[in-house]
Amino acid sequence: MSDALLVAPGPRHTLPGARLFDYIAFRRDPLRFLTQLTRDYGDVAQFHMGPQRVFILNHPDLIKDALVTHQDAFMKGRALQRAKRLLGEGLLTSEGAHHRRQRRLAQPAFHRQRIESYGAVMVDYAARHAGRWQDGDTIDVAHEMMRLTLAIVGKTLFDAEVESEAGEIGGALTDIMELFQMLLLPYSEYLEKLPLPQTRKFQRARARLDAVIYRIIEERRQGGGDRGDLLSMLLLAQDEEGDGGGMSDEQLRDEVMTIFLAGHETTANALAWTWYLLSQHSEVESKLHAEIDTVLENARRPTAEDLPRLPYAEMVLAESMRLYPPAWTIGRLALKDFQAGEYVVPAGSLVLMSQFVMHRDARFYPDPLRFDPERWTPAAKETRPPYSYFPFGGGPRRCVGEGFAWMEGVLLIATIARHWRMRLLPNHPVVEHPRLTLRPKHGIRVTLEQRL
Ligand code: HEM
Repeated sequence: MSDALLVAPGPRHTLPGARLFDYIAFRRDPLRFLTQLTRDYGDVAQFHMGPQRVFILNHPDLIKDALVTHQDAFMKGRALQRAKRLLGEGLLTSEGAHHRRQRRLAQPAFHRQRIESYGAVMVDYAARHAGRWQDGDTIDVAHEMMRLTLAIVGKTLFDAEVESEAGEIGGALTDIMELFQMLLLPYSEYLEKLPLPQTRKFQRARARLDAVIYRIIEERRQGGGDRGDLLSMLLLAQDEEGDGGGMSDEQLRDEVMTIFLAGHETTANALAWTWYLLSQHSEVESKLHAEIDTVLENARRPTAEDLPRLPYAEMVLAESMRLYPPAWTIGRLALKDFQAGEYVVPAGSLVLMSQFVMHRDARFYPDPLRFDPERWTPAAKETRPPYSYFPFGGGPRRCVGEGFAWMEGVLLIATIARHWRMRLLPNHPVVEHPRLTLRPKHGIRVTLEQRL
């Protein structure tokens, strides 16, 4: 590393303890805090969270450097390390050789032909779900999307009706999601050792879920064969390139739990924000309806084969994830010194790359707050550098469920928008709530209008 590297700019504090204000500001409103930091200090800026030095990278080339070119200089940040309490050593949280092996084993389960067979489940579940709605109903569409994507991931993952097994899987998962956030609090390592009611509730919910998952794994091991779901693929996978073996029950449990969690909340949020944006932009909504009505003549249901004929629906989803990326930031811990442009990021620093901030950068997206799906025509995409858009991350840790998510997103939009239009309830506050994923704080309350 060259000696000439500079120290990255950031807020300077002369008073002792004043750094704490940055930390408080970050925790209170990380989206605004990080946006402001990059406006004030440029593409590489630093601040402190207590003793932890934090850098934000806000240029596509720097993001590519950290996620792809020099990815071996990093490991996952604290949030995902803490998430091991729930996800164990699954794909999202594991590191190094273990991660590479698990990824080799799991990847085929997400191959195109395999996930195409899930298209029918997605459409069927969406049609059934929306079939329960009534014209004029008021719903929280964020909540509805969460239930729908959870049911879909349950069915595609282990051929289980999650909604009907509500007492077991559904209930335990709801509890876990509520309590998961607790794991990310400062000092949660110590808090969780105390006999607090929340800690106990979390442990009980995790134990309930574990029992169900291990039971399903056991049944499958005995039954054998391929039931066509993700779990079958994970069970049958053998590490041909490595030790030739498969996954232990514990590894399977960790992957199942990971896919369960990673595979529904993100897509649900992407869809919730999409319905919100459509309700605010009638010209986009009309164009979308025109495309869907033409492709799905006679009100037939969409299939995976229709996807190439629904390019505008895909553009709408892409633009929605630009403005409201479900994964709003990626964190990495630097294992060695890293060169970010002309600056040095010392080993031990936390590096943040925020999709929310990058996707709203006027250098790459003129008039950035405008919702405009035309930014996603092939010609328009050509004009922007890679990593100016990275809702699914990048490099070896890129989202393994990306193909699944695009297919689910577009098919659900087509299935639902074919029959329903949504109108935001007047005065309903739409507020971004950046937790593990970017949720709408008060949900998205809409009135339903039946189209057909
Ligand atoms: C719109 C929907 C989705 C978004 C925005 C999203 C976003 C992401 C991002 C940004 C990462 C990388 C995190 C990092 O580098 O630290 C990731 C990883 C991952 N995602 Fe997704 N995801 C989505 C849907 C899904 C679905 C549907 C599944 C499974 C069915 C899934 C499973 C995973 C897994 C297992 C990983 C870890 C991959 C690895 O490290 O090898 N995701 N996702």
